[in-house]
Amino acid sequence: MNYRLAYAVGFHPWEDLAEHPPYAEKLLELVAREEEGRQPPYGKALDIGTGSAVWGVWLAKRGWEVTGVDIVEKVLRRARERVNEAGIEMRLVHGDVTALREASIGSGFRLVVDTGTFHGLTNAQREAMGKEVSAVAAAEATVILDCFAPRRRAPLPRGASRDDVERTFPGWHITDIEVADAEPDPIAKLFRFHESFYRLRRR
Ligand SMILES: C[S@@+](CC[C@H](N)C(=O)[O-])C[C@H]1O[C@@H](n2cnc3c(N)ncnc32)[C@H](O)[C@@H]1O
Repeated sequence: MNYRLAYAVGFHPWEDLAEHPPYAEKLLELVAREEEGRQPPYGKALDIGTGSAVWGVWLAKRGWEVTGVDIVEKVLRRARERVNEAGIEMRLVHGDVTALREASIGSGFRLVVDTGTFHGLTNAQREAMGKEVSAVAAAEATVILDCFAPRRRAPLPRGASRDDVERTFPGWHITDIEVADAEPDPIAKLFRFHESFYRLRRR
């Protein structure tokens, strides 16, 4: 998926998932697990491929100290507007998920959320992302990845299998795989995205 072009022409259907309860509630369920038994602030969260910060802002409103990273500078302007409108604090960084340390985002992230970036990366990019996430995540971190099922055709993200996720994150184990969208809209049904949330913890 050419995100630069997509954002330039105003194509960003993934943002609509925030208004799609089956998806939003499933993500909420997973995030709430990381908040259980604690009071906000919940700690540092990293929103990978934050886009216009739909989920980053949502996390910040819940009481996470959020950093959002995206490779497309233009979309970070919309993210900034969303952050300002929400009146919350969220750090926005122009950077590449395959080189997070170069982006100087810091470390110690308790929660890493990726709604739709990993599954579109090449194998080499995935390997780099796995290393970078491992380097910036806290010892007790949780990673949540949203992936289409594998073998989607371009221009769609190619998707990822359980094996792909395991290969990318060798120091982590998958604790849960959840259906991300139990009620896909007609387009998602047509393309058979079969979207899943992977939850990972360090070994
Ligand atoms: C499907 S969109 C999801 C955006 C946002 N997470 C959401 O759910 O609205 C994927 C995002 O990943 C970003 N992205 C793709 N490759 C990236 C990379 N190598 N480093 C950082 N961001 C990347 C894109 O610019 C895009 O904003």
